[in-house]
This record gives sequence, structure tokens and C-alpha cells, in this order.
Amino acid sequence: MRSLRLIGVNALSRLISGVVACAPLIAAAASAGTDHQALMARGAYIAREADCEACHIGPDGTPYAGGKAIHSPLGAIIAPNITPSKTFGIGGWDEAAFAKAIRHGVSPHGHLYPAMPYTSYAGMSDQDVHALFTYLKNNVTAIDAAPTVETRLPFPFNVRSLMAGWNWLFARGRPVDDARDQPGSVARGRYLVDVMGHCSACHSPRNSLLGEDKRRYLGGAVVGGWYAPNITSDEISGIGAWRDDELFTFLKTGAVHGKAQASGGMAEAIEHGLSHLSDDDLYGIVRYLKTVPPLRDAGQREPAFARHPRQELTFEALHLGASRAAGALSDNSSLNGEQIFIGACASCHQLNGAGTRDQFYPSLFANTATGGITPRNLVMSILTGVHREVDGHIVSMPHFADELSDAQVAAVSNYVLQRFGNAALSVSAADVDKFRRGDDRPLLMTMFMRLGGISGSGGLAAAGVAALAWLERRARQRKFAEAEMSLPPDA
Ligand code: HEC
Ligand code: HEC
Ligand code: HEC
Repeated sequence: MRSLRLIGVNALSRLISGVVACAPLIAAAASAGTDHQALMARGAYIAREADCEACHIGPDGTPYAGGKAIHSPLGAIIAPNITPSKTFGIGGWDEAAFAKAIRHGVSPHGHLYPAMPYTSYAGMSDQDVHALFTYLKNNVTAIDAAPTVETRLPFPFNVRSLMAGWNWLFARGRPVDDARDQPGSVARGRYLVDVMGHCSACHSPRNSLLGEDKRRYLGGAVVGGWYAPNITSDEISGIGAWRDDELFTFLKTGAVHGKAQASGGMAEAIEHGLSHLSDDDLYGIVRYLKTVPPLRDAGQREPAFARHPRQELTFEALHLGASRAAGALSDNSSLNGEQIFIGACASCHQLNGAGTRDQFYPSLFANTATGGITPRNLVMSILTGVHREVDGHIVSMPHFADELSDAQVAAVSNYVLQRFGNAALSVSAADVDKFRRGDDRPLLMTMFMRLGGISGSGGLAAAGVAALAWLERRARQRKFAEAEMSLPPDA
């Protein structure tokens, strides 16, 4: 609506200032048309920057139809329909309601859970919110149906109004207004990382109340079963030793030879969002990441991508491996990691783990999924496979969640870690089960749920949450100065 009004005013002013003739009128209409188109294009691009589609996509790929379960430590939260449907989407909303939902987590349906990254979007500029709203309202096909699944959280977290207290603690960002210019600049990169790309929603660890820990900004965090690695500028634990063009290629395509591939949430962020951004914007992100204060993970001495195979396979061993392959394929109960590797992995990643020459099937050494400080991404990519479609190129590794038992996934992971990756790590069947269920709920949350369950009334649990919130806030206020200092300087 606001856009129409703006255009109206625009046309009127032209009409008044112009000579009373037809020519200026036609020119005004044409310019209003292109203004509107430019706004739509801008809105479509912002939806990519902010990656709205990755979460709000329908089960059959329908844009913004909703229905996808978004992992959160509280449980799975279903992303709603945000098409312009009047009944099931945002068709009946005005821009103010939309802005309040995406920047402050308060929708006409009540408080939102932070599975929707409104704590990041709080910084979205008014111009960007306006363009995004105009685009979603006018250029997206309305889907007149609600998602077939609903959010079902255990008590007391099903009480949406509890989120009001949480927002008071953690959702206090302010919109910025000057970040849109200077393509490729560090300031623009920071806007794309902190606000639009909500990178810290995955890459920053959370405190006991699930707020992002500012002192460990982008320092690496568990998300579902996955680990979103440290992407600070540290040369050992972060991306400090990556060349700019390598980081650029990773963000644009999801794969960099000899370093990393993107699966899980990162593959989605690249497929639906980052791969659609301009080269300038991606380089802005790269430049900004290089300015993020370094955080070193305790005990880490070499970068995750710097690991090489423990011993080269001899010709005899390779031959033996090949002859065992047939047996391994038919033995589906084996707990021998090497056998499973030969049967399930070597056809693509090769017996020596080096992958194919073109790295379409990547090397399992010099790979952050095997050489890092946690085996999570190795285990999760075995369980879920790898899927990415970028620019028409499809990358696909099959998933083994149904074929291999937890113990088998553990066995093959340990074999890969021992031979190609961080040999100090090991995985048990219980770990695999935990990663598979995406269980990273903080102990405290588990406690509250038990408390809520036992007492049968929300009062006790809610009072507990409130007390903790108060303590947390006091602690935060004390640490505020320190935390601010470790945040990157305003560029
Ligand atoms: C990481 C996943 C994720 C991303 C990215 C995301 N959303 Fe959401 N969004 C959700 C989830 C989950 C909910 C539901 C939260 C709840 O039920 O409390 C939601 C809720 C909403 C709502 C409230 C709808 C209603 O009916 O109450 C709106 C509007 C919305 N999102 C718009 C957007 C827009 C616009 C973007 C991009 C700028 C976006 N979302 C990006 C996950 C996401
Ligand atoms: C939905 C969660 C999520 C979001 C949002 C996200 N990431 Fe990631 N990111 C991950 C995960 C998980 C991995 C590990 C992927 C793997 O190994 O397959 C990862 C990997 C990476 C890596 C490779 C690091 C390494 O050591 O291998 C970089 C770089 C990166 N992300 C940058 C970003 C940037 C920049 C943004 C914001 C524009 C971002 N990510 C947003 C989850 C996320
Ligand atoms: C059909 C071929 C194929 C098979 C079989 C296969 N992979 Fe993969 N693997 C791939 C492809 C393709 C990729 C992703 C390449 C890319 O992203 O560019 C990949 C990526 C990976 C990664 C990196 C994932 C990440 O998130 O960084 C690991 C680790 C991995 N595979 C391990 C295994 C293991 C272990 C097995 C056996 C249990 C296996 N693969 C079986 C094709 C395969």
C-alpha cells in the first residue's frame, strides 16, 4: 500500500510541476512503472540476502508455502505460510505488522519463537523491509492452504507469551539505515552477515537461556546434529588461513577443493540465498569475516583442513581392499569400519580417500568435516547425505541413515577419522544416536520440562524461567563492557 501511495505522490508532484500536457504524464507513469519494478527486484534480492525461502519453502518446493520443521533447542518449529494468501499467509497484513513480526518476533498470531531469526533481522533497514514486503505481497503466488503439520512443543515452551521475556533479554537490535551503499565494503559485508544472513544464528554458541553468546561471536556452535564451525579470523580455528577467493567460492558454490563442502543448513543457505548474491556482496562478506576478532579453540594446533592421510596405502593393500569390496557390500551387519568404508564410501571417495581427480567426489582428508574439533559434520553427512543444487549443478551424496545402524555409522566414522582426519576424535553409537536426533537441548531446558511435567502447572516452571532470565540479565550487564570490546569495530 505504501508503495502505491508513494507512487501516487510521485506522479502527482510531477503532474503539478509539469506543463499541462500529456507528455510529462506519460513519462511519469512510465517512471512509476520502472520504480515499482526496481522495488520488486530489490525485494526479491533482499529475500535472497535474508534467505527467507530456505525455511519457508513448502514440502514440494513451493516458494513460501511453509511446512518445514526448523530445528531449535526447544524442539521443531514449523515455518508458516508467508505467501500473500489472505486467510493462510500475510495477505491481510499491513507493512507495520510485517515489520513487527520480522524485526521483533511479534506476529498478529502472537510471539514467535526465535527459530525465526528475528533477533538478526531486528537490524534490517526500513527501506529493505519495505522492498521485501512489497515483493512478497505482489510477486509471490498466494497459496490458500495452511501447512499440514503444526508446531508441537512440550510444556511450558508451548506458552508463546514466555517469549516476551526472552525477547526483552535478547531481541534488542535496532534497524540500521546506512548499510545499503558501498557494494563490497566491510560495512555492507557486516550488514549481510549480522542482519540479513543471520550467520550468527547458527555460528555463534548460545548461553543457557538460548541467547547468542556475544563473547563467542561466530566462534562455532552446535545446530541440530551439525556443527557450524568457527568462522572468526583465527588462522587455526577459524577461516583466517583461507584465501579470499576460496571463501568467496565456498559461499557462491558450497565447495572448495582441499578445504570444505557445505551440507546441512549451510547447503540450504547457499542454495537459496548466498549463491544468488552479487560477487561484490559476497566479497563484502569475505572482507568482513576477515575483520572478526579471532577466537582460538582450546587445544587446537592445526587448521581442520590441514590433515593428511596417516599412511599411504600400498599397492597390495589397495588390491586387498578391492577384493574385499564385494564381500563388504553383501555383509550388511559388519561392524568393521574398513569394510563399511570399502563397501559404502570408496566407490566415490576412492580407497585412498583422495576423491576423484576433479574433486567432484571430494577428498576426505584436507577436509574440515573430518579434520575439525568435532566429528558431527562427518557423522551427519553420512546420515543425511549431501544435497545442493547451485546454478543448475547438482551435488549429491546418498544418505545412509536407513542403511547403516548407529554402530555402523560410528565404525565407519572412526575409520575415516583415524585414517584421514582428526585421529584424536572418536564416535560411539550413542553419539550417533544423539546427533541423529539433533538433541542439543541445554540441560536447563530439559530440567524445566521435567519440572513443568511433574508439577502439572506452568507457574513453577515459568517462575523458574523468569528467575533465571533475571540472573542471566544481571550477569550480562556486568559483562557488557567486556563483550562489546570483543565485538568487531564499527567499520
Ligand atoms: C531459519 C529459518 C527461517 C528464516 C531464515 C526465516 N524464517 Fe520466518 N519463520 C520461521 C519460523 C520457524 C517461523 C514460525 C515461528 C513460530 O511459530 O513462532 C517463522 C515465522 C515468520 C512469520 C510470522 C508468520 C505468522 O503467520 O505468524 C513471518 C511473517 C516470517 N516468518 C517472515 C519471514 C521473512 C520475510 C523471512 C526473510 C526475511 C524469514 N521469515 C526468514 C523460520 C524462518
Ligand atoms: C542454518 C545454519 C547456518 C547458517 C544460517 C549459516 N551457516 Fe555457515 N555453516 C553451517 C554449518 C552446519 C556448516 C558446516 C557444513 C558442513 O561441514 O557441511 C557451515 C559452514 C560454513 C563455513 C565453512 C567453515 C569450515 O570450516 O568448513 C563458512 C565459511 C560458513 N559456514 C560461513 C557462513 C556465513 C558467512 C553465513 C552467513 C551469510 C553462514 N555461514 C550462515 C550452518 C550455517
Ligand atoms: C555416490 C557417491 C558417494 C558415496 C557413495 C559417498 N559419498 Fe561422501 N560425498 C559425495 C559427494 C558428491 C559429496 C559432496 C561434494 C561437494 O559438496 O562438492 C560428498 C561429501 C562427503 C563429505 C563432506 C561433507 C561435508 O559436509 O563437508 C564427507 C565427510 C563424506 N562425503 C564422507 C562419506 C563417507 C564416510 C561415505 C561412506 C559412508 C560416503 N561419503 C559415501 C559422494 C559420495
